[in-house]
Amino acid sequence: MTETMTPGNRSSETSNGLIGQPIARIDGPLKVTGRATYAYEHAVNEAAYGYILGAAIAKGRIVEIDTAKAERAPGVLHVMTYRNAPAQPEFGPAVTPTVPEVFTRARPVLNSDRVRFYDEPVALIVAETFEAARAAAGLIRVRYEEGRGAFDLPARLSDAYTPRRTNAGFETDSAIGDFDSAFAAAPVKVDATYRTPYEHHNPMEPHATLAVWSGDEVTIHTSAQTLANFQAGLASTLGIPRERIRIVSPYIGGGFGSKLIVHADTVLAALAARVLRRPVKVALTRQQMFANAGHRAEMVQRVRLGADRHGRLTSIGHDVWSATSGFEEFCEQTAVFGRSLYAAPNRLTRHRLVPVDLNRGEWMRSPGEAPGMLAYESAMDELAEKLGLDPIELRIRNEPTEDPERGVPFSTRNLVACMQEGARRFGWERRDATPGRIREGRKLIGYGMAAAIRPNYIGAATAKVTIDAKGRVTAELDMTDIGTGSYTILAQIAAESLGVPIAAVKVELGDSRFPRTAGSGGSWGAASAGSALHQACNALKERIVEVARASDRSPFRAEDLAGPKFADGEVRVGERSVSLADLIGEIAPDGIAATGSVAAARDTESYRTYSQHSYGAHFAEVAVDSDTGEIRMRRLLAVIGAGRILNARTARSQILGGMAWGIGAALMEETVLDPRYGHFVNHDLAEYHVPVNGDVPEMEVVFLEEYDDKANPLGSKGLGELGVCGTGAAIANAVYNATGVRVREFPITLDKVL
Ligand code: MOS
Repeated sequence: MTETMTPGNRSSETSNGLIGQPIARIDGPLKVTGRATYAYEHAVNEAAYGYILGAAIAKGRIVEIDTAKAERAPGVLHVMTYRNAPAQPEFGPAVTPTVPEVFTRARPVLNSDRVRFYDEPVALIVAETFEAARAAAGLIRVRYEEGRGAFDLPARLSDAYTPRRTNAGFETDSAIGDFDSAFAAAPVKVDATYRTPYEHHNPMEPHATLAVWSGDEVTIHTSAQTLANFQAGLASTLGIPRERIRIVSPYIGGGFGSKLIVHADTVLAALAARVLRRPVKVALTRQQMFANAGHRAEMVQRVRLGADRHGRLTSIGHDVWSATSGFEEFCEQTAVFGRSLYAAPNRLTRHRLVPVDLNRGEWMRSPGEAPGMLAYESAMDELAEKLGLDPIELRIRNEPTEDPERGVPFSTRNLVACMQEGARRFGWERRDATPGRIREGRKLIGYGMAAAIRPNYIGAATAKVTIDAKGRVTAELDMTDIGTGSYTILAQIAAESLGVPIAAVKVELGDSRFPRTAGSGGSWGAASAGSALHQACNALKERIVEVARASDRSPFRAEDLAGPKFADGEVRVGERSVSLADLIGEIAPDGIAATGSVAAARDTESYRTYSQHSYGAHFAEVAVDSDTGEIRMRRLLAVIGAGRILNARTARSQILGGMAWGIGAALMEETVLDPRYGHFVNHDLAEYHVPVNGDVPEMEVVFLEEYDDKANPLGSKGLGELGVCGTGAAIANAVYNATGVRVREFPITLDKVL
């Protein structure tokens, strides 16, 4: 069940009320009938198929690679190794101030005999069929000189260093007041260390690319969240101008942060297609994705909370140690959210990195908040118990009046309302603060809650919108729809902004020939692309009026055209109205186009002067078998304050997906690294456990709708990643409430509660 509670401060521009409506995905029928073509399915004549052979060691070099048998195998067209791969720029030093941007730097593959991580590509076999290529891969003999890899994070905390790059644009450390003295003097305190494991995002559609060269230009059909990153990264890697690369990605089977930058499939398909002068398809297998498409790094977090006896925080400390690849630094902003969450005069946050011999980590849904809130919101629960305070009351007592570290006001912040509304709906008063008191036969019943926070971003975006002489509207932008509903939301925005029915709008996405956006990621997609499109529609309305004024075929007299209203597919001036189709047919038979843009949040005054975040409160009920330790979810509730909701159905789906992911993070997900070989052992979906239908309980989502006029022209805030923020901690707190066992090593598997 979903409800949207609207406080009545919606945009005054609303004409047909389409924005916010729970409209079903307009691309849904294409997807369920198989007519939405994904990258690898794209049919071209003469396609050849690549198969990647991965390294069998994690660190060292290739001494000998014998490809002779593979080259003679049936159907094989080409075998590429570091010895014959086309020249690519060096990857470059791990971290220097001059290293190009992470999204745009060259990412060469097969350019050296060096092996940096287990399953790193050492050869690409291209054949007439996928099966022939895979069979030939088994004929390649590789001899390695193996180095000694380092993999164990907890044992190597003394090797930690301070990240050399800023962390997603945030400072790595923050310090306000005197944390050490305040914490030492606090009468009530928690000092707890939590561990979170390696995790992998595995979108349904593996990473896959079809590369088609035509002269010195290449078209890349791939599965990308952000086309501009793919275009720039591939241009650097191939050493050709961006303009010669066209990225096409109209349908994407999930991303979750794993498709923000180019991976080996894209680079190798482009290289091999150029060598062979024919189209080449390369996909990562599910197993290969675990080493080659990023992961969330293992972390150790120490959370220190000091409070007075009334439950007012005097000191908050959050230290994070995270594994990183030795050749390319990557750090999640795990302690950053806490800088804005609760009030306390003395504050300390620090990120530290420990290099390991793995591929680089990448952004995995809610980078930072997802692992960080598991620890931090568990620690808040521990503190509430020590104080003898209700966990909601503790949070209310520490609700800040302004951003506690930046000292600027919040744009909108509905955290307290989310907690109170959630408590009422969930029946929070039935919780017994003493663990283990509520029993149903063998089952111990527990209740838990946690807050949720996630920053609101805008990425620079431009959109183009065209209206033709039949009144049909086409929106074009290189935005992607990774399954989130971009096509639908953008159609709603264009239809409402122009006052036309949604059926009159065609949304074209996923082609780098369209105006550039920030793509999908970081929960910025809908607001960034949507705001650009909204601006484009406003510009189009102005343009229509201008053209009408200048035209002697206009049904309006020029002086009439003050304050025209666009609604119901018509333009109205005073008492007179004319359909858009008739008007455009008269004044501009070739149609009229306009563009609109928004600037990146960091370049805007409102982002500098307001603290902008989405908020929520999660509530969980679990049942734990007192004999076996089996933990079953009973109920989950999320109450969300994320600005104006653009589509109540797709927004709910985003939150539900995040909540299901929160179950995984709390109870199941863990990629196990074999410390002898640096190999992720459970590298498939049979052994990497994620919640399935039977694990997911009744879930309820409630939106406390706001209109955030500081965030963007639509009044919305990002919410894609909010669902997973805090959900896991609410579940962990419920497990504690059920059992009295505080598990600080995630996931909470049954062996840990017995
Ligand atoms: Mo986002 S980390 O691109 O889900």
